Amino acid sequence: MIAPRLHPDKHIAAQVVAREIADLIEIRSKSGKYTVLGLATGATPLPLYAELIRLHREAGLSFQSVISFNLDEYAGLGPAHPQSYRYFMAEHFFRHIDIAPGNIHIPDGLSTDTTQTCADFEAEITAAGGIDLQILGIGRTGHIGFNEPPSSADSRTRQVHLNDVTRRDNSVFFENLDEVPTSALTMGVATILAARRVELLAFGSGKAAIVRRAMREQPSVDCPATWLQRHAACTFHLDPEAAAMLRD
Ligand code: PGA
Repeated sequence: MIAPRLHPDKHIAAQVVAREIADLIEIRSKSGKYTVLGLATGATPLPLYAELIRLHREAGLSFQSVISFNLDEYAGLGPAHPQSYRYFMAEHFFRHIDIAPGNIHIPDGLSTDTTQTCADFEAEITAAGGIDLQILGIGRTGHIGFNEPPSSADSRTRQVHLNDVTRRDNSVFFENLDEVPTSALTMGVATILAARRVELLAFGSGKAAIVRRAMREQPSVDCPATWLQRHAACTFHLDPEAAAMLRD
């Protein structure tokens, strides 16, 4: 089931989700348990990372008991490439907090054996005890992670071809469209659905149509985000613009 949750703006949404994450980390660490977070890149989670960094600096939130798994990475981009997701995460989140570098997991975009790399990634999630809370964005194609249509509900971490709409949307971060990689490594839909909680963030009018489709359409490979309707604990955190087409 997808529960929509409307917030006055994206910064308040970020504060609410950051508080939920902080509470989870603090409760689990008190009983000596690690918290396994699934993390996302893109413009959408930036206010969330900014708020978590603020909580670390000003309210003593520690990430020493956190293990993280990022959803995806561009194939062919290494950690030193400014558009790689490993670079993005270091820049916008990890270098500002106290997470142990060994607890960070991001698919290796430079892998020469992507089948093995993806199988190892799944095994590492399992070994960590599964993902407690997964942060998601949503693409205009209905992708979650880089699970473009058609992506089935039983898909696992694998190499995928990127949709042209997604490459154009993401080209704003590159010099030009030709520089945007044509494939990526991504957690699968089943990997995402196995997370115990899913918190999807969507902000702005550009997301209104796909938010409506994800919540209202019959689940199918044509809009992978519709599979989230099958999750027992999935919340869509929306600003008024992203929620605008849910009124009827
Ligand atoms: P965005 O991307 O946050 O840059 O809009 C979201 C996504 O593609 O999942």
